Amino acid sequence: MIIEDIFCDLPQLETDRLVMRMLNLDDAADIFDYTSDPEFARYLSWGPATSVDETIGFLSDTMFRRQLGDVAAWGLVAKDSNRVIGTCGFTNWDPENKKAEIGYALSREFWGRGYITEAVTEAIGYGFETMELNRIEAMCDAQNLGSYRVMEKAGMSFEGLLRDYEYWKNEYHDMKLYSILRRDYSQRPD
Ligand SMILES: CC(C)(COP(=O)(O)OP(=O)(O)OC[C@H]1O[C@@H](n2cnc3c(N)ncnc32)[C@H](O)[C@@H]1OP(=O)(O)O)[C@@H](O)C(=O)NCCC(=O)NCCS
Repeated sequence: MIIEDIFCDLPQLETDRLVMRMLNLDDAADIFDYTSDPEFARYLSWGPATSVDETIGFLSDTMFRRQLGDVAAWGLVAKDSNRVIGTCGFTNWDPENKKAEIGYALSREFWGRGYITEAVTEAIGYGFETMELNRIEAMCDAQNLGSYRVMEKAGMSFEGLLRDYEYWKNEYHDMKLYSILRRDYSQRPD
């Protein structure tokens, strides 16, 4: 399995309430709408977004990297509104060691309704079943309670606190590391 096989033509996935599809430049307004929210960006190394042009830059970069065969996030489209309300996907894929990292973000308007858990669970299934991964990991700012609850609800296990692991927005940040292994996934309850 090589990265280009999957990410040049990112397959569309579907959950009960979401379509997970490739992002394109037409999504800029929807994405700027929620990434410009300071509360959204509170636990992120980037943002809040300050202009639609900045969002277009992010989308162009994502599309370019995808053409080069690099990993790319799915846009999360709410089926009931056809709006892009978030992103979820693999950020680093290391085929040799059969592991990848997952990341996600959702518009504040939709927090607390399980959308991201739905998307992360779908992406994890895709990682084990199609990308043939053995390990999927994720990390978040140690203060980001909503984010590590998502990891727990998606079946990931806490592995440790990475002290002062990242430096952004003029501060060091402790990060929580979570993972799920193929063997955990195959033993998950129905
Ligand atoms: C992290 C994020 C995706 C979580 O989204 P969400 O809509 O709250 O996720 P879900 O509804 O699927 O699940 C979150 C869980 O955490 C809980 N939770 C969320 N915020 C909480 C808070 N501040 N205090 C206590 N519990 C909280 C929710 O109640 C839910 O648990 P429950 O189902 O047991 O009630 C969202 O906050 C977000 O996009 N933040 C901005 C970007 C970001 O930080 N991304 C993660 C980077 S690592």
